[in-house]
Amino acid sequence: MNPANVPVLTIDGPSGSGKGTISRLVAEQLGWRLLDSGALYRAVGYAAGAAGLDLSDEEAITRCAQTTRIQFRAAADGGETHVFVNGHDATDELRTETAGAAASAIASVPSVRHALVAMQLGFRKAPGLVADGRDMGTVIFPDAPFKVFLTASSAERAKRRYKQLKEKGLSVTLATLQREIEARDARDASRAVAPLKPAEDAVLIDTTGIGIGDVVAKVLAVVQR
Ligand code: DC
Repeated sequence: MNPANVPVLTIDGPSGSGKGTISRLVAEQLGWRLLDSGALYRAVGYAAGAAGLDLSDEEAITRCAQTTRIQFRAAADGGETHVFVNGHDATDELRTETAGAAASAIASVPSVRHALVAMQLGFRKAPGLVADGRDMGTVIFPDAPFKVFLTASSAERAKRRYKQLKEKGLSVTLATLQREIEARDARDASRAVAPLKPAEDAVLIDTTGIGIGDVVAKVLAVVQR
């Protein structure tokens, strides 16, 4: 099938809006592929850190984005997908707040974003694609027939993240997390290139106080309309 004819559902929104979980569940329900674009930025940030690069050295980071090998592999037991960066299973490292902050920093460099475009377009394959990120509906797949923008209050997003990290035994405070989330939102929304904002034709869904099952149903309704 010509990629332009493959249906795409874009799910954009700030960190902690539930995008990751919702995108995975919706892709499973539809039987479509999944693009976790944040994982690409995290992978480049991680590779840059592993190579000892200075995150403000745009030329070096761009070269890193152009050459880092990123592979998604489904776990043999049907569990979560693992992300390999230059052959190393970096799944756990990529989930940390440090990796998120590094990703957010390098994501503001236009040439880094450019280096990752072709890889993202390559995910558009039959029978369909759920694309999770910040600029999926605005920049990468502007022609997508289905677009959703998820939001939630920063307090709610901090609470969700706090619960996840506590379950992993990490020690954090709620107030620190909320501050970090607000700082990252401000940086992602104010950058000159591909800032975090809803596409004009996106359906806005506020997930504050709504359970995962209900959000999935609302998103599926956008596709089935
Ligand atoms: O969705 P996430 O938390 O894994 O994303 C990590 C960072 O990557 C986020 O702070 C901004 C950046 N990002 C981006 O700029 N564009 C995307 N499509 C996805 C993520």
